[in-house]
Amino acid sequence: MEDKLRSLQTEAIEKIEKASDLKELNEIRVAYLGKKGPVTEVLKGMGKLSAEERPKMGALGNEVRGAIQEVLESKQEILEKEAVLKKLEKETIDVTLPGRPVRTGNKHPLTKIVEEIEDLFIGMGYTIAEGPEVEKDYYNFEALNLPKGHPARDMQDSFYITEELLLRTHTSPVQARTMNKAEGKGPIKIICPGKVYRRDNDDATHSHQFMQIEGLVIDENIRMSDLKGTLQIFAKKMFGEEREIRLRPSFFPFTEPSVEMDISCKICGGKGCNVCKGTGWIEILGAGMVHPNVLEMAGFDSKKYTGFAFGMGPERIAMLKYGIDDIRHFYTNDVRFVTQFGVEE
Ligand code: DAH
Repeated sequence: MEDKLRSLQTEAIEKIEKASDLKELNEIRVAYLGKKGPVTEVLKGMGKLSAEERPKMGALGNEVRGAIQEVLESKQEILEKEAVLKKLEKETIDVTLPGRPVRTGNKHPLTKIVEEIEDLFIGMGYTIAEGPEVEKDYYNFEALNLPKGHPARDMQDSFYITEELLLRTHTSPVQARTMNKAEGKGPIKIICPGKVYRRDNDDATHSHQFMQIEGLVIDENIRMSDLKGTLQIFAKKMFGEEREIRLRPSFFPFTEPSVEMDISCKICGGKGCNVCKGTGWIEILGAGMVHPNVLEMAGFDSKKYTGFAFGMGPERIAMLKYGIDDIRHFYTNDVRFVTQFGVEE
């Protein structure tokens, strides 16, 4: 009986040591120490022993159980630790994996250009004025020296809403509104960016909706040379110090005299190329001295006050500055296009 118990002990300990996981260990526990296990089974035979031997065997039985139990417990501890390590290993985060980039937005190129132009003029003491996009015929045309039936109204095909209301065709009505509010007193120094609308068929250079930035300065003794100096600063700051400007006589009903401003072509430096159509110059904006009729209609004394105005298209400026070949890119909002203009500084 003693031998049997000892060999069971050796057998159990051997198995315990070989156990590779907690489940297997538990099976061994049940098998050897359980009520139906071999140790219990052997001890059941104690009844047949002599009164002398019985307590000895009882003690041996307990010793064997205790020994198995002890080995079981220490093995259990080892296996539990291993299980935790395995779990940790499985769940570790690989910090060397590249992260998923967080995409930051950037301003629309047109917004950037408008802000750049605004900053430039704010730096010269201008303030920003705004006006409605649904405009009265009076401010869009009449107050700008374009009475009903004036042929120059045809230069700007309009979206009329009623006889007297339309989507503004330019930002010049903000001039008239600002002057009206000033009640005949200068100075005025504003720029006004905004959306305008014309009945044009959309193509690479036309859009039924686009932007304009209007400028207006009214004060005593404002001269054409002030206009020229201002435009020169604008052109050099926007397009580079080496740019030259030239003013060509033109016609706008709200200015007299009227001019169009060209800048020297950046591509060929003025020699002539296909961007400037061989002329060496690129047209940028319209401008002029505010027409006395416009001043008077807005309640200004045209003997005392003079002023200049200009109007430009930021899309055109952005197209020239960044080499964009189609105005529709600004409005179709393909992210491949709009993200080309840099992350927010
Ligand atoms: N309003 C004109 C246009 O849309 C642009 C313009 C030209 C504005 C001359 C002006 C100006 O203020 O003086 O074609």
